[in-house]
Amino acid sequence: MREKLVIGNWKMNGTRESNARRLERLASEWRGASGRLLGVCVPAPYLAQAQAMLSQSAVAWGVQDVSEHESGAYTGDVSAAMAADFGCTYAIVGHSERRQLHGESDALVGAKARAATAAGLTPIACVGETLDERERGATNDVVLREMDALIGALRSDTAKMVVAYEPIWAIGTGRTASPEEAQAVHSTLRARLAQAGAAEVPLLYGGSVKAANAAALFAMPDIDGALVGGASLDADEFLRIGRA
Ligand code: PGA
Repeated sequence: MREKLVIGNWKMNGTRESNARRLERLASEWRGASGRLLGVCVPAPYLAQAQAMLSQSAVAWGVQDVSEHESGAYTGDVSAAMAADFGCTYAIVGHSERRQLHGESDALVGAKARAATAAGLTPIACVGETLDERERGATNDVVLREMDALIGALRSDTAKMVVAYEPIWAIGTGRTASPEEAQAVHSTLRARLAQAGAAEVPLLYGGSVKAANAAALFAMPDIDGALVGGASLDADEFLRIGRA
């Protein structure tokens, strides 16, 4: 049975005070029901706060990026071991905002996924095409190229990752892929994972997921949950997605 998960990506949002309210609500309201795992990936400075407020709850936490290096002279970077030190379960790697705004290559994202598994974290590796790539009919080429780099980097650990398909044109735009559009890409990704002996890798969809569209997405056979940005900043909306 594949794991079902709903993961919040807070991105660069929050304050100690607003986080405290949101984390308290998640910790008290989430019962771990519905056979689904709930988690939040918070900005690195707030990992200690997430650990303190969630460790007695059924909600997991994670980091939004990790260095590909173990330790050393990498000013500003956060290692996977540091995230693990604060009890993280998950590390997002290869989010499109990092690929686009920080020039992260497929090879670098693969190395980050490997660094995460080496530290005992579950990488949530993001793949997805731009609008231009979709309109050119290049969606499958792009996501399979990104997936192959991950499989090549993780090798026998491929089954330890979670993959999030996030069409870039759907992120933060209010424009979601239809359940059928998302399913088509997920089934392509699933086939490639199966060839690599990792058919059980959970495949999340991300891109303007809200309580109103979550159930239809989760009804698709190859969609195992969601990576939620904007809507994860509203605890009640996020809980509704978790229960959808
Ligand atoms: P969104 O972001 O839900 O705000 O579209 C998703 C993501 O970037 O992970």
